Amino acid sequence: HKPIIRAERFDNTMALINEGFQFFPNQRKELGTDIFETRLIGKKAICIAGEEASEIFYDTDKFMREGAMPKPLKMSLFGDGSLHGMDGEAHRHRKRTFLSMFTPDRVTELKQMALRYLDAKASEWEKRDQVVLFDEMQEVLAMAGCEWAGVPLEKDEVQQRTKEMIDMIDSFGGSLTRFREGKKARDSHQAWLEGIIKDVRKGRLNPKPNTAAYIMAHHTEPNGKRWDVKTAAVELSNSFRPLLATAYFLTLGAVAMHEHPDTRKNLKEDTGQYSHWFAQETRRFYPFVPAMIAKVKESFTWKGYEFKKNTRVVLDLFGTNRHPDSWEYPDAFIPERFNNWQGSPFAFVPQGGGDHHTGHRCAGEWLTVIVMSSFFEFFAKNIEYDVPEQDLSFSMERMPTYPKSRFIMTNVRKTADYE
Ligand code: HEM
Repeated sequence: HKPIIRAERFDNTMALINEGFQFFPNQRKELGTDIFETRLIGKKAICIAGEEASEIFYDTDKFMREGAMPKPLKMSLFGDGSLHGMDGEAHRHRKRTFLSMFTPDRVTELKQMALRYLDAKASEWEKRDQVVLFDEMQEVLAMAGCEWAGVPLEKDEVQQRTKEMIDMIDSFGGSLTRFREGKKARDSHQAWLEGIIKDVRKGRLNPKPNTAAYIMAHHTEPNGKRWDVKTAAVELSNSFRPLLATAYFLTLGAVAMHEHPDTRKNLKEDTGQYSHWFAQETRRFYPFVPAMIAKVKESFTWKGYEFKKNTRVVLDLFGTNRHPDSWEYPDAFIPERFNNWQGSPFAFVPQGGGDHHTGHRCAGEWLTVIVMSSFFEFFAKNIEYDVPEQDLSFSMERMPTYPKSRFIMTNVRKTADYE
């Protein structure tokens, strides 16, 4: 077997936390390779990047998820016992349940709900001195996500529930303070959704049968048993909470529109295609999820390198989205690159790679793309605003990241209503 190059430091956990999105690309550059070995969170890990690497990583015959995910992620972000850590038929069964909620009709419905909330917000923005886009997007998505999922959200709860969901998402980057906030938020969020599941089961709450609240409350396993309340609440959360992650991309995309005024003009004149390219390029160019982790299921050899059973393997998602073998000018923001893009499901992996149905690729990817493209269109076609002097830069060390000023807009004017 070919030897796998080792990173210099024995354990690179702190380097990953400190360098953030730059860690894997920096190591690859330093070591001159797309495959290297190190220790992360106390365990040996082989780190890989690029389209071919992503193709083996998403091969479910080669890799499994059980026991691969670091515990803190389960405790705050995903919830214990969620589908992220499952394998084989059990995973596929649960994934089908998720994907049954994301039918084209329901995706369109969510887009319309989200646009309605956005439109109402825009009317409020006209009356304000300034608007912080990142914060506003979180609320819009929380309200739309809850309505779509059949989860009641009273007006006076919006702030608290939004903050909890964002604290959970914001907790993954390795900061202890943020992890603690995320864990606290998860506990309250979980208790809230367990209450919803119980109410649906007892008939005190009657969401429509095509909503996540109904589906997760009544779902049965192949053995005919219903999920326990805890699992049902965890998966109810996983069916709408991640929508709030889109707030990061929407805010970063607003920066791109501001920094490349031609894109705003194109969005304004768009008849449907450009906003899609723009959303795709925002997901490719800006960092969000740095990497995914899995465990080797059975030993195998790839390109002469040995992958021994149970070894942890980390796929550099951000580095793959910007890999020079797959992308021309990878570090430039060029939405047009998605015109007739015939790329593989392994080169463009902001929400994971491979197949949505049989693998772990994000169940909410279509939803994310549609919400993003329609919101970017709205920003260009339905409102005008000034962008005062502020720090629009974003940290590459902080995971997840967003513009430091959270994107402040002033003098917002509505130029057209939605609908
Ligand atoms: C899985 C990213 C939005 C639901 C994932 C994965 C990533 C990801 C990286 C893991 C892929 C893997 O395990 O290899 C994102 C990003 C989003 C987003 C960046 C938006 C900014 C959403 C939305 C939903 C959603 C809107 C649902 C409403 C899920 C679910 C899984 C998942 C259920 C687990 C899939 C599985 O393990 O089979 N997402 N996601 N995500 N995502 Fe998303």
